[in-house]
Amino acid sequence: MSVKILAIESSCDDTGAAVIVDGKVLSNRIANQKVHEEYGGVVPELASRAHQENIVPVVDVALQMAGVKKEELSAIAFTQSPGLIGSLLVGSCFAKSMAMALNIPLIGVHHMQAHVLANFIDDPKPDFPFICLTVSGGHTQIVLCESPLKMRVIGETLDDAAGEAFDKSAKLLGLPYPGGPLIDKYAKEGNPLRFKFPEPRIPELNFSFSGLKTSILYFLQENQQKDPEFIQNNLADICASIQHRIISILLNKLVKATEETGVRDVAIAGGVSANSGLRAALEEYGKKHHWRTFIPKFEYCTDNAGMIAITAYYKYLAGDFVSLDAVPTARA
Ligand code: KG4
Ligand code: ZN
Repeated sequence: MSVKILAIESSCDDTGAAVIVDGKVLSNRIANQKVHEEYGGVVPELASRAHQENIVPVVDVALQMAGVKKEELSAIAFTQSPGLIGSLLVGSCFAKSMAMALNIPLIGVHHMQAHVLANFIDDPKPDFPFICLTVSGGHTQIVLCESPLKMRVIGETLDDAAGEAFDKSAKLLGLPYPGGPLIDKYAKEGNPLRFKFPEPRIPELNFSFSGLKTSILYFLQENQQKDPEFIQNNLADICASIQHRIISILLNKLVKATEETGVRDVAIAGGVSANSGLRAALEEYGKKHHWRTFIPKFEYCTDNAGMIAITAYYKYLAGDFVSLDAVPTARA
């Protein structure tokens, strides 16, 4: 009998539902919340309310698109941690209610593990062990993966995440939230070597992005004193130079990680892996260092339920279920 799982993702501001049948993602729906734009960041209370409104229609469409009836489901999966607690509660309560009504098992999924396993949705897939650079709005990690459910964080950020570095830089440039995709867009037209931002010296496989933010702030203040139109007149070059530095910080540590572990299969994951500069740079570094590189399809990079579904599938096969009193947690 085939394994059919409905997966729900509600860790932050996107409501996602996906259906996976025998390890193949058949539908992956997402409702983005526009309500946060005018506040320059995600407002937790508004996010939970929007999840409440979105979750039923998103789940309905995901089931319809996959051609799966809820009575056929083998299990329900949900994001258990980390994330905004109010958002996680909406998804977990919904998943528990469905699991109880249908009398089927419940699977709790770790959001960051799911970002890594997004690399297993489509072919080709990495071989074990592989290294994954997971870069999102809340995390920046280098993860050593020994099997689908066995992963170890071998490096991480000491302060801001890479996504925050993009978003905070964008804010300094007067761009709306989330600014990461906009920096990506403007950077395409700019010269990445025009302005030099410092690369921090952080020990081991760890990262730091707070110094970069400060240096961008001083750089902009200084130049705007001389020319009030400095940002408008140089936006593409500034974006390209900031993006170039964030990418070099990330990839230099990735090189160090492969040298220290001897691992040659290298993947990226998380919202920032949607960045076109990072995707291109990974390919380039891969050729130079003889890596096999893996990047999830665009729709599986930023938050989505497809990645929750693939993780749930491996957990289902391992018999890794949670009980109806499982609680979501904001921190991992
Ligand atoms: O994984 P994700 O969707 O949510 C979290 O779990 O945090 O990541 C969101 C982050 C945001 O900081 C956003 O600006 C960044 O990913 N991001 C990008 C791009 N697309 C999304 N950063 C740079 N370039 C992009 N194209
Ligand atoms: Zn995420």
